Amino acid sequence: MSRELALLDEVEAVADERISDRARPIPRISIQAFCERPETAEAVQVAAEDRRLIKTHVSVHMGGVNAAVAHYLESPTPNLIVIESVLPQREFLAALDKLAESCDAGTKVIVVGHTNDVLLYREVLRRGVSEYLIAPINPLQFMESLSNLYNDPHTDPVGHVYAFIGAKGGVGSSTICHNVAWTVSEMMKQSVVIADLDLPFGTAGLDFNQDPVQGIAEAIATPERLDEVLLDRLLTKCSEYLSLFAAPGALDREYDLSADACDIVLDVVRQNVPYVAADLPHMWTQWTKRMVLQADHVIITAAPDLANLRNAKNMIDLVKQARHNDKPPMLILSGVGMPKRPEISVKDFEAAIGMKASAIIEFDSETFGQAANNGQMIEELAPKAKAVQPIREIAMSLTGRREQKIEKKSSGLDGILGKLRLKR
Ligand SMILES: Nc1ncnc2c1ncn2[C@@H]1O[C@H](COP(=O)(O)OP(=O)(O)OP(=O)(O)O)[C@@H](O)[C@H]1O
Ligand SMILES: [Mg+2]
Repeated sequence: MSRELALLDEVEAVADERISDRARPIPRISIQAFCERPETAEAVQVAAEDRRLIKTHVSVHMGGVNAAVAHYLESPTPNLIVIESVLPQREFLAALDKLAESCDAGTKVIVVGHTNDVLLYREVLRRGVSEYLIAPINPLQFMESLSNLYNDPHTDPVGHVYAFIGAKGGVGSSTICHNVAWTVSEMMKQSVVIADLDLPFGTAGLDFNQDPVQGIAEAIATPERLDEVLLDRLLTKCSEYLSLFAAPGALDREYDLSADACDIVLDVVRQNVPYVAADLPHMWTQWTKRMVLQADHVIITAAPDLANLRNAKNMIDLVKQARHNDKPPMLILSGVGMPKRPEISVKDFEAAIGMKASAIIEFDSETFGQAANNGQMIEELAPKAKAVQPIREIAMSLTGRREQKIEKKSSGLDGILGKLRLKR
């Protein structure tokens, strides 16, 4: 090798090292790339295997923008789509517009182009594309772009926080929280964390048949220590896309939570995970109120009786008043039609509250009782149960999705093997 070439190699190596210092670990996002050239696919694949992307879900496809357009007619869009283009400009922009029609809110797009053309660059950015990289890309450069996109404190956090709270104790709020979170994880194929904020009595661990690290108490006790590395240690993985931030569920300590500590913890989680389901206990303290008012969506579960009606109305009024610019909270009526129980009818309940229930979940002690005792979700236990559809509708409404098929696990053995593979 000539001295000049050796020197060039050295300069490149130093530049790569600088980039490698700049690229920080990427949050738990899902990334799908649609490449045209094998070199680009390989660069994305090499980046996907880097330690910084260890928490992300990356899949690489060929076929460029047209394959992406066809793919997303059927499937939900991930957090980030990477599109390589070798098409003529007009054709590419038209395909990009088509792709935009099936993009969910919050999905970002990076384009890898083969022309260094300012006009194209502008056109692409005008369409909301986050970045235009010029091929050939190398893995470190690609990671630096991801890092800039997802680790910038000035941009929106990746995650949406959904706060679930009951209008009374024992009305099924946690059950709905866990089932909806599971459904979102299966439907969207994006990471979801259930934050069980009922520290002494929380059931998330039991409901998923897990013996979890009881991480959330540690995080809330020393919130300033929580970063993406510690968070990783404190989460318990239930399935590929679902993790628990589990409660101790023990009475050896008293838990007087501070609103500030809860805030900090939830902020770290939402910086790292696309969906956070906060399972709140039925109580009204400074911290629960703050959680409810700060969440992106609030889901209030009520049973059809008078005390639930009064409490749900108070909560809904307060949330609406404090959050003019947000969607109103969602009302879920649960345990409807319990035999021999005098109930307020759904129609009267809705009229008194002044809003329609987003879902009505009938009383079904057999299915719910069995699911709770088995540590399973309703749809896993009984895909035909009446509660499955309303739970899916809540998940779709929260994520802004149309109906998605949830792929069935092929056999029990797969499930067990999967669990073993997922254990760390
Ligand atoms: N639609 C339903 N039909 C029958 N049983 C139900 C239904 N929904 C929930 N349950 C059962 O009711 C019990 C209480 O549910 P869950 O713990 O979800 O309520 P919660 O509102 O979170 O209670 P807490 O106030 O303790 O937090 C559980 O045993 C659950 O299986
Ligand atoms: Mg609960």
